[in-house]
Amino acid sequence: MSEGILLPVLERGTLLPEPARLARLDEALPQIRAAVEGETDEVALQSTLACLLWQTLAQANWCGFYRRVGERMLAVGPYQGGMGCLRIPFERGVCGACARTESRQLVPDVHAFPGHIACDDATRSELVLPVWNRSGRLIAVLDLDCPHGEGFCAGEADRLQGLLDGIFRAQD
Ligand code: SME
Repeated sequence: MSEGILLPVLERGTLLPEPARLARLDEALPQIRAAVEGETDEVALQSTLACLLWQTLAQANWCGFYRRVGERMLAVGPYQGGMGCLRIPFERGVCGACARTESRQLVPDVHAFPGHIACDDATRSELVLPVWNRSGRLIAVLDLDCPHGEGFCAGEADRLQGLLDGIFRAQD
């Protein structure tokens, strides 16, 4: 088994300052793209992304996908971290808000987000991004949780959305 991508090793939970996080992500992204190049299977892609984004985003305590399994229902998919909720209706939580509105949810303080699902009491901030396929249908959300407040920034959101669009919108 490979070690994943080449990045300096950080202790889980380390929140680097924003510029350092962006530099680390910029170092990781081409390696992540190369690692999944040519793959079309959704589970293979989501599993590998959960693994490599977990390695990259050291600040995260949860990193993975909720897949759309009904018109307005998500079920947990490949992830890293502690056990997550199995199902999230579109009406609930940060993931539900992302799925419902098909827009990024950058939440610096989950306690200020009405209806946040407290899966892990330690979680303080989140970033949830929509995943569309080539037909423009929402097929999943990428959920990133962090035990620090303001654990994710707009620059990370932009870059990660670009990664997801490049991988999942490029196929059906
Ligand atoms: N981020 C979610 C809940 C956490 S998961 O179950 C790991 C939400 O509030 O939608």
